[in-house]
Amino acid sequence: MTQTAATPLPIVILISGRGSNLQSIIDCAASGALSVEIRAVISNRPHAAGLEIARAAGISTEVLDHDRYADRQSFDQALQSRIDHYQPGLVVLAGFMRLLSDDFVAHYHGRMLNIHPSLLPELPGLNTHRRAIKAGHSKHGASVHFVTPEVDGGPVLLQAHVPIKPDDDPESLAERVLAQEHRLYPLAIQWFAEQRIFLDEHGQIIFDEQPLLHPRDLAMEHALPC
Ligand code: GRF
Repeated sequence: MTQTAATPLPIVILISGRGSNLQSIIDCAASGALSVEIRAVISNRPHAAGLEIARAAGISTEVLDHDRYADRQSFDQALQSRIDHYQPGLVVLAGFMRLLSDDFVAHYHGRMLNIHPSLLPELPGLNTHRRAIKAGHSKHGASVHFVTPEVDGGPVLLQAHVPIKPDDDPESLAERVLAQEHRLYPLAIQWFAEQRIFLDEHGQIIFDEQPLLHPRDLAMEHALPC
């Protein structure tokens, strides 16, 4: 698919909960700074607050409740079929709390991004803020990465660094990281929309036609004005 400045990148966003990253993507798209057309928001949880955010913005929503499927494979197949119905150029995981089967991940190879609240490869998995504090780290943050079969293990394209303060608890740290996530994800998606980043056949990120040897640092970039 070839995007031009006049053709916003069609995306589908997957959520499971609150939807604050979804909100930041909607806001940036509405401002015109992020050149995407959000074709649908799909949740695996019927009561995800993010569904209301999407509806309020006039975006199509769907619920695929994973509890109603016999196993992971049948859920993933149904999800894939619903996503592909919208023909997205990019699938955006925004707080989508499901492990994904290898076949599903392979189907979206190079066209599915995730945001994770840590400086990957540090702290994959859950409860990253509490674990960062407990481990005595001085720095924490968030990462945007391409999705590969290894959970939170795909190549990272962009990170935001957040210092951990002596009096931080998991909630205060999470709040500061989340504020950075809301700047981070729209920028990464915009780079994809502008075709500045892609995965090559070896799983290496190419950024502006060069191999990206280290993740870009948000502090060195111009976040989108939204
Ligand atoms: C974020 O911290 C994101 O990094 C992680 O899940 C959380 C989702 O939050 N993957 P929200 O639903 O976008 O508010």
